[in-house]
Amino acid sequence: MEFSITALSPEAAKAGCVVVGVHSDKEQGKELTPPARRIDQAARGALRKALADLPAKIGTTLLLRGLPGVAAERVLLVSLGVRKDFGPTQFRDAVRGAAAALRELGAKDAALFLVEAKVASRPLTWNVRHAVLGLRDAFYRFDQLKTQKKAAAPAGALERVVLPLSAKPPLSQALAEARAIADGTDLAKTLGNLPPNICTPTYLADAAKKLARQFKLGLSILERADMQKLGMGALLAVTNGSHQPPKLIVLRYNGAAKTVKPLVLVGKGITFDTGGISLKPAGEMDEMKFDMSGAGSVLGAIRALAGMKARVNVVGVIPTCENMPGGQATRPGDIVTTLSGQTVEILNTDAEGRLILCDALAYAARFDPDVVVDIATLTGACVIALGHVATGLFANDQKLADEIRAAGEDAFDRVWQLPLWEEYQEQLRSNFADFANIGGRPGGAITAASFLARFTRKYRWAHLDIAGTAWKSGREKGSTGRPVPLLVHFALRHAGRK
Ligand code: BES
Ligand code: MN
Ligand code: ZN
Repeated sequence: MEFSITALSPEAAKAGCVVVGVHSDKEQGKELTPPARRIDQAARGALRKALADLPAKIGTTLLLRGLPGVAAERVLLVSLGVRKDFGPTQFRDAVRGAAAALRELGAKDAALFLVEAKVASRPLTWNVRHAVLGLRDAFYRFDQLKTQKKAAAPAGALERVVLPLSAKPPLSQALAEARAIADGTDLAKTLGNLPPNICTPTYLADAAKKLARQFKLGLSILERADMQKLGMGALLAVTNGSHQPPKLIVLRYNGAAKTVKPLVLVGKGITFDTGGISLKPAGEMDEMKFDMSGAGSVLGAIRALAGMKARVNVVGVIPTCENMPGGQATRPGDIVTTLSGQTVEILNTDAEGRLILCDALAYAARFDPDVVVDIATLTGACVIALGHVATGLFANDQKLADEIRAAGEDAFDRVWQLPLWEEYQEQLRSNFADFANIGGRPGGAITAASFLARFTRKYRWAHLDIAGTAWKSGREKGSTGRPVPLLVHFALRHAGRK
């Protein structure tokens, strides 16, 4: 999908479909946005006449064909709801509704006048970014494993979209950034959606190799023997039951001066989580292929930042393996020595994410990080706490937490902070090792984060629990690509570019 920014007049635009918004108001009825008004004038009131058939619900659409005095064959009206309530959520819903209609139509090209609708307190650059991300999201398909692509694919693929605005450098920059973020999000989605027999730790390492080649990134991959030499006892304990070799991927993008300390992103890469000997129940276990979503988001974010040539230094650290039962598998009660030297009693082999992360987080210290952020589908408890809307945020530095929260608002990829107080550490006590890997049911997302906090004392650190936000279940089952937009916004803002 190609995007461009060009000033156009709605009545003269020679696009396959012109998309304009219409607000509605309980008292005053429908209220045309300026582009809709111009079309109505050119068509001598034909647009206004048709309005009764446009439902008030945001994102619903009405297609008009062959309006007199209008160059485009088709005009798509999109309902925007009440003008004074028009915020980020409404803008997204409107773009999504327009995208669904364009797909249905099989339109090849469109002029999206919708993009200029004023969104409460957001600059026009925000509209540009979210129009691009919304459309790219709506047209994303994962059909590479379907043999009958035609039947499964949508009626048409939108090839060209004009954002009809007068071109200004900040808008072009927003467009370039949004394109790169969409590419990174697509990568994260596809890695997440791939089945666990294809998307193995080796496959993730190969995906990193491809990125490294394409964007000239630094890459090193630690194998099992390297982990043994280093003493990554926790990561090795998780991979024990699996026939797939584990990997620790280190991918480096240098867009800033060598003296600038890097942002280190650490992503959980469990390519399938059976629970191990503490086996999970069968229902929905297939969704544990998404347990590498943290890893996917790190690769996606690096792709986005490299793709837009951002002036940031980033290191991606991805511990990846499977969590399987078997004769070699780790047992509940086993005690391991982590890379940090601390010992852990593994009371539940299903709490494996924190085990691979704790060694990766200890390893991250060697990059002399400015900040470390880990991203993990870590706990079912986080889904209970925050549902599928907000990602769980934890941090050992409040300024960092505030920065991440603000980036999430800007990206509309939001987070909500939970506490990391010392009192929770008590739940991790063990009679036999320094501490245990589980803390009981109360505050499960918090005790998981508290476990990680014992490995991150040397640097500023934040933890994102994406268990509720990385994928959707049910009919719409699939990876969301979150939190790639958040990570990219954070990296850019943190580097002081925004
Ligand atoms: N990958 C899961 C977390 C998860 C579960 C994410 C369901 C999304 C949906 C993680 O490895 C896990 O199994 N966590 C356990 C921890 C428990 C054993 C302390 C959990 O959340 O049940
Ligand atoms: Mn698990
Ligand atoms: Zn897991």
